[in-house]
Amino acid sequence: MRKKIVAGNWKMNLTLKQAIDLVEELKKNFHSGDKVEVVVAPSFPYLYPLREILKASAIELSAQNMHWETAGAFTGEVSAPMLLSVGIDRVILGHSERRQYFCEDAGLLAKKVKTAMDHEMQVIFCVGEVLEEREAGRHFDTVREQLEASLHALTPADWSRMTIAYEPVWAIGTGKTATPDQAQEMHRFIRQVVSGMAGEQTAEQIRILYGGSVKPSNAADLFSRPDVDGGLVGGASLKPEDFLAIIEAAL
Ligand code: PGA
Repeated sequence: MRKKIVAGNWKMNLTLKQAIDLVEELKKNFHSGDKVEVVVAPSFPYLYPLREILKASAIELSAQNMHWETAGAFTGEVSAPMLLSVGIDRVILGHSERRQYFCEDAGLLAKKVKTAMDHEMQVIFCVGEVLEEREAGRHFDTVREQLEASLHALTPADWSRMTIAYEPVWAIGTGKTATPDQAQEMHRFIRQVVSGMAGEQTAEQIRILYGGSVKPSNAADLFSRPDVDGGLVGGASLKPEDFLAIIEAAL
């Protein structure tokens, strides 16, 4: 039985005060860490102060991105050893906003994934097609290519720290959600691709999250599908009552 994950991707939002208020509210109301894994991904400056606040809670913290090199002349970047030094061993990689606005392609993402895995970090790796690809019937090919191009070098130990998030780009921040059937169909397909790459056992164990306008009104239906192991939540993760309701839907 795969434990569900509900991860909140805060993106470039909130002040420190708002971030603290939000995690305090989550900490006060979430006590089911044995049943569902809850992760929040704030911006870099807040990771350390929030780590201190969440120390005795079941809520995990993740970075939203990191560099593939471990140190050096890379102005404005943050490395895996830096994250680990402030107690953060999780990172989201391959988010469509990173691919789209920061030109992160499959080769670069393969380097980031390798660095994260070399540092024994847990990764949420995002894949998903744009609208034109879905309309042209290319969505399965796109997702397979994204997986194979960046995850081909993972070892079995690496796969055990990997979570995949299927985030159709046309559903992110648009209010449009993939139907539970569309999500299930793609998640099943992703599991088959992972099986081809890493074997059946890994494919059965890996958690595959759905992302793209997850909200309290659609979470339970999405999470009820057999291959949907939780969600990567953007907008709704900024409102404690919505995020808590989504967590509730995963219990
Ligand atoms: P959204 O974002 O829930 O606001 O659509 C999801 C994501 O980008 O991870």
